[in-house]
Amino acid sequence: MSTYDESYQAWRDDPQRFWADAANDIHWDKMWDTVLDTSAQANGSWFAGAMCNTSYNCLDRHVEAGHGDRAALICDSPVTQTKKTYSYSELLEEVATLAAVLEGKGLVAGDRAIIYMPMIPEAAIAMLACARLGVVHSVVFGGFAAHELATRIDDATPKAILLASCGIEPGRVVPYKPLVDAAIEQSSHKPDACFVLQRPMEVADMTAGRDHDWADSVATAKAEGRRADCVSVAATDPLYILYTSGTTGQPKGVVRDNGGHMVALNWSMNAVYGMSAGDVFWAASDVGWVVGHSYIVYGPLLAGCTSVLYEGKPVGTPDAGAFWRVISEHKVKALFTAPTAFRAIKQQDPDGTLIGDYDLSDFTMLFLAGERADPPTVQWAEDQLKVPVIDHWWQTETGWAIAANPAGLGLLPIKHGSPTVPMPGYDVRVLDDAGHEVAAGTTGSIAVKLPLPPGCLPTLWQNEGRFKEAYLEEFPGHYKTADAGYRDEDGYLFIMARTDDIINVAGHRLSTGGMEEVLAGQADVAECAVIGVADDLKGQLPLGFVVLKAGCDRNADDIERDCVALVRQEIGPVAAFKSVIVVKRLPKTRSGKILRGTMSKICDSAEWKMPATIDDPAILDEITVAVTERGYARGTSGKRA
Ligand code: COA
Ligand code: AMP
Repeated sequence: MSTYDESYQAWRDDPQRFWADAANDIHWDKMWDTVLDTSAQANGSWFAGAMCNTSYNCLDRHVEAGHGDRAALICDSPVTQTKKTYSYSELLEEVATLAAVLEGKGLVAGDRAIIYMPMIPEAAIAMLACARLGVVHSVVFGGFAAHELATRIDDATPKAILLASCGIEPGRVVPYKPLVDAAIEQSSHKPDACFVLQRPMEVADMTAGRDHDWADSVATAKAEGRRADCVSVAATDPLYILYTSGTTGQPKGVVRDNGGHMVALNWSMNAVYGMSAGDVFWAASDVGWVVGHSYIVYGPLLAGCTSVLYEGKPVGTPDAGAFWRVISEHKVKALFTAPTAFRAIKQQDPDGTLIGDYDLSDFTMLFLAGERADPPTVQWAEDQLKVPVIDHWWQTETGWAIAANPAGLGLLPIKHGSPTVPMPGYDVRVLDDAGHEVAAGTTGSIAVKLPLPPGCLPTLWQNEGRFKEAYLEEFPGHYKTADAGYRDEDGYLFIMARTDDIINVAGHRLSTGGMEEVLAGQADVAECAVIGVADDLKGQLPLGFVVLKAGCDRNADDIERDCVALVRQEIGPVAAFKSVIVVKRLPKTRSGKILRGTMSKICDSAEWKMPATIDDPAILDEITVAVTERGYARGTSGKRA
């Protein structure tokens, strides 16, 4: 029996005991009454009755234990050519001071604060300062536009917004303040205060009475010796809300609790990633995504590790050797990123020539997640780096790995294309449409038998109804992951596709339904469809099809340009929506359902069958001609089976 088998079996034998044991590594202000209270919520509540503080466990606990001088955060920004390291004591000082500033403006436990910031230390400091007060933070990724931010402001109703004046993308400065101002203008809810971190590349105009200069506020609090203490909150209280794409333009507000989240992340740092206190861990993602929440900020700090926060890209800042520089300079033990980052590096440095310029002797493992790790990319990374390359599968909703190859429990043999096996806590089932388990090798919907382990979402923000409908109703007694795949004879999972209209663009999760809502609002568009098509670099890219209103006599090129601009304006550059085609008609079933799946297959040159229920088969021929002529089909267009 492997250590993994023993661990998984120990969890199966007594799940509550397993997690209670893991919870011993966390400091609790008051111990729990029940490890799992199944009466409270559809999905149960972990560590009900316990009181705790996440910021205390990330910072104070380590300082009090004598580790204040250990590096907590290494901030490396090739785009500003700056580097700065915060020890645990220094980070605690910054967090406690910013928390005092927020407290001074009336923020109390249970209030919400939106954080709209690039990859700079103040983003992590803001998250931890909120956690210190029990203020629920909601970080919004900087690549989202004002409208998306407005939707989140109205849903989370924040008392404050913490922002930086700008983000920096290679070759351009992205002013954030005008986006925040426009979002507040659009939203019904108005925050009381904004704290603006002025960066020298772009100094933002301030709105009198509402906006406060971050640096001045912190300097004043420091001069006055003000530091906020940790506020003890219930383990079941929300730590943060993170919005993620749903099937409509209205994103889902995934809620994370305090207690279960700490237990799960702390356990995962060692069991899944093989990290111990003092090790340097680098998640090359963004604090706007769940990877950034779990493995740039909370996980590494809970475990007493050193976390790298990187403001740059895998390529172009300045070259495809950027990752190797960071690994060697900061003695990174394990890197976690999305496969797309490696595809980008491979594209620019196919022979890995730049790797030889750096000393990677401290580097032991590469973890990939966020999208399917395609075997050629995994193989390339293995060949170049000569370390285990570990795929693992999870979602914003779960907050940590559903399936992984657990480095800390002893690696199992790696199979390319598989994120390996379920982690303790997850009873993964592959189901047919009727909810019955399918045989090994057969593809089905992947579900997790309830209850979900600690760390997973207890609900959606103020929308238990949508939570149940989206995740729990289709397969009663299970959580629906909305991923499809299969399990092989050895019990390895293979995650192949989404079962909904979510697409994955450069590791970013996007809703084609949301893009369709935007296109439908364009004045000339009568109806539309957006599909994901395969892309060698980003995994998938969105492609739009629009049918014009009768009588529209505008030039198709102009309309296509307007559509692209509108999606960028409404959703943001992160949508990478650059391709749209005006077509005469959309292929539909007789009941009017647009055949998006068949259109995707045609573009991807995959084999497809003429749907039996199609209304007019000729339309698919028109689509095939259109995508082929415009170069949106891979090679020859799709083959009809
Ligand atoms: N603020 C403002 N704009 C942003 C932004 C931010 N924080 N992040 C991205 N954007 C913009 C980009 O500038 C780009 O704009 P453009 O259309 O004008 O070029 C657009 O959003 C798309 O960005 P991105 O998806 O990052 O594509 P890219 O071409 O700039 O880079 C990769 C491609 C593969 C290098 C990049 O996606 C990457 O590093 N991925 C790593 C994986 C990752 O972070 N995954 C997250 C989950 S683990
Ligand atoms: P997000 O919520 O942004 O983390 O996206 C989660 C989705 O990304 C999952 O539901 C999957 O569709 C996809 N995904 C993440 N990791 C993997 C993986 N290792 N293999 C296949 N798909 C993945």
